[in-house]
Amino acid sequence: MKKKILVLNFKLNGNKKIIKKYIKKIKNKYKNIKILISPPILYIFYLYKLIKKYNNIKITSQNIDIHTKGPYTGEISGKMLKDINTKYVIIGHSERKIYHKEKNKILLKKILITKKLQLKPIICIGENLKEYNLKKSKKICIKQIKYFIKKNNIKILENTIIAYEPIWSIGTGKTADIKHINKITKCINKYIINLNKNLKNKFKIIYGGSINEKNYINIIKLKYIDGLLIGKLTLDINNIIKIIKNLNKIKI
Ligand code: PGA
Repeated sequence: MKKKILVLNFKLNGNKKIIKKYIKKIKNKYKNIKILISPPILYIFYLYKLIKKYNNIKITSQNIDIHTKGPYTGEISGKMLKDINTKYVIIGHSERKIYHKEKNKILLKKILITKKLQLKPIICIGENLKEYNLKKSKKICIKQIKYFIKKNNIKILENTIIAYEPIWSIGTGKTADIKHINKITKCINKYIINLNKNLKNKFKIIYGGSINEKNYINIIKLKYIDGLLIGKLTLDINNIIKIIKNLNKIKI
């Protein structure tokens, strides 16, 4: 059975109590899922101490700086993330693009530093509402991926997770229609494999955007989907545990 990926993005929410509760409920269970917990950076060390013995849970950072050390007040060093066993880094989340004006140039640097340190990037891509309404979703997503390939090479996508996250869907309660998700994830998959067949099975595609306790099941069953990225619902432990239990059973 292929292992499903479940990213739990706390964003700027949560506390020690919630994190501890999660770990208590999921430690050493649910072996068919990789559970990537992404708490606010302040709690990563706390998470690290809690999960030392449990390898079904992986530490994920919500951000990384392009420098690993030096006079960069308030920044997050990839080397330090590695030091406390972080495995994944979310890069290019739309909230960072919107509120921190992160553009492709900086995202490329973040992907490269992440890979250099042998951390796995979760690269977020997706169209905004206007682009969606103009039926430009495919074009926009490919354009975003193409930038990284052009500035580096196709291998930049090896060992990465691509998170298709329509911006208009994040935190809005509007989930993308299942046919739309299938169309876009298929297009991303085909585009990459057409450029280099050797990349088949060497990258993953996940979906994020207003996933809830009802719609996740149809999304995870889609052919080109390897996992889910959940934001808001992360704070609802009971529903997340139900989702984890079900994901653990479903074959994809
Ligand atoms: P959401 O967030 O589930 O609240 O829409 C998804 C995300 O963090 O990208």
